[in-house]
Amino acid sequence: MKKIMLVFGTRPEAIKMAPLVKEFQKEYEHAETIVCVTGQHREMLDQVLDIFDIRPDYDLNIMKQGQDLYDVTAKVLTGMRDVLKAARPDIVLVHGDTTTSTAAALAAFYQQIPVAHIEAGLRTHNIYSPWPEEMNRLLTGRLATYHFSPTPLSRQNLLAEAVGEKQIWVTGNTVIDALYWVVNKIKNETELSDRLAAELKDAGYDTSRLDGNRRLVLITGHRRENFGEGFIQMCNAIKTLTQKFPGVDFVYPMHLNPNVRKPIHEVFGENLSNCDNLFFIEPLEYLSFIYLMEKSAIVLTDSGGIQEEAPGLGKPVLVMRDTTERPEALDAGTVKLVGTSYDKIVSEVSLLIEDPAIYEKMSKAVNPYGDGQACRRIVSTLLQQV
Ligand code: UD1
Ligand code: UDP
Repeated sequence: MKKIMLVFGTRPEAIKMAPLVKEFQKEYEHAETIVCVTGQHREMLDQVLDIFDIRPDYDLNIMKQGQDLYDVTAKVLTGMRDVLKAARPDIVLVHGDTTTSTAAALAAFYQQIPVAHIEAGLRTHNIYSPWPEEMNRLLTGRLATYHFSPTPLSRQNLLAEAVGEKQIWVTGNTVIDALYWVVNKIKNETELSDRLAAELKDAGYDTSRLDGNRRLVLITGHRRENFGEGFIQMCNAIKTLTQKFPGVDFVYPMHLNPNVRKPIHEVFGENLSNCDNLFFIEPLEYLSFIYLMEKSAIVLTDSGGIQEEAPGLGKPVLVMRDTTERPEALDAGTVKLVGTSYDKIVSEVSLLIEDPAIYEKMSKAVNPYGDGQACRRIVSTLLQQV
């Protein structure tokens, strides 16, 4: 029986690999599924493992507060050496562009174990934006034997780098498999919405505030290249917007990275409570986050995964970055790059709040990232290949 190992370590990798773990587990008569988490994230990873009820076979538990790229790379590389020697998988699956995925792919290569890259071929063509993710993707792409691209454009990027066309499969993004699972769960489990609303209230945001005309702007931010000045400008823009639009709520589930929280405290003070339509809350577990996104009017973010989810829910997305590796929704007109300058963020969010025609144009539901069947395609392809 073939041994398939899936390796991941951060929140977004876990969300996007979880449905794939479930799909491989259905094939227990043909393949053994082994899950290894690096623990590059701890609490934010465990939130996802709990929701999808995944118990890892290996946990490197590497996270330390304020870790840098050297810490993560070195610990994943040496940790994976020992795990791979013990488990002897026939193939290692890694996801996307994190340091976990690149270091795990390198560790597998050192033992001549073939690597499959999930979410392969995304590119901005600028190695410093996002940093270090663009280089991580390039390196993982070189190390991989099997490339699962979410869209035809990502396949084109790989072909341009001379990856063989027989090594690339366009499958859609597994994030859409995960999203459909959540959306259906919320729709079909009658008590779930009430539970999520109650959990959000406990977390610090009461969604019943939205029962009248009040609208919601959902905010997240965490990119390394925005640390420092970029984050200060974003925070000042948010401050101005909350004062300008008292009838709009701004909810910011904060990433746990201390580099994200420092500028927030610098701009909003230690107790984060200087106006009554701005809510800083702890990172939400995945179901609550999607529930809140469904209730939002606008999403303001620098996240990768949220650029894929929000268009599927018909939510306009303003991306606080200068580049994106996900131009498909940009082309469809539901995502717009606004960078990290104070003026641009204030003016673009204001436009969407104040101009119904522009809002209408950006809020159509489009889904260039998949049909919810990506995991099935990946599993059936790999079971034939390995
Ligand atoms: C990482 C990925 C990034 C991905 C992001 C998703 C790299 C280089 N970066 O960035 O590509 O978009 O995850 O969120 O791989 N922390 C906690 N608990 C947690 C998670 C993080 O306390 O559950 C804090 C710790 O202090 C940790 C710090 O956040 O040291 C940074 O975590 P790290 O994974 O190094 O970087 P991210 O910015 O999260
Ligand atoms: N997310 C979540 N809780 C939150 C914020 C985000 O579950 O409080 C989910 C979100 O739905 C998406 C993923 O986390 O699937 C995005 O993670 P992040 O922005 O940290 O990383 P990126 O996608 O930029 O790599």
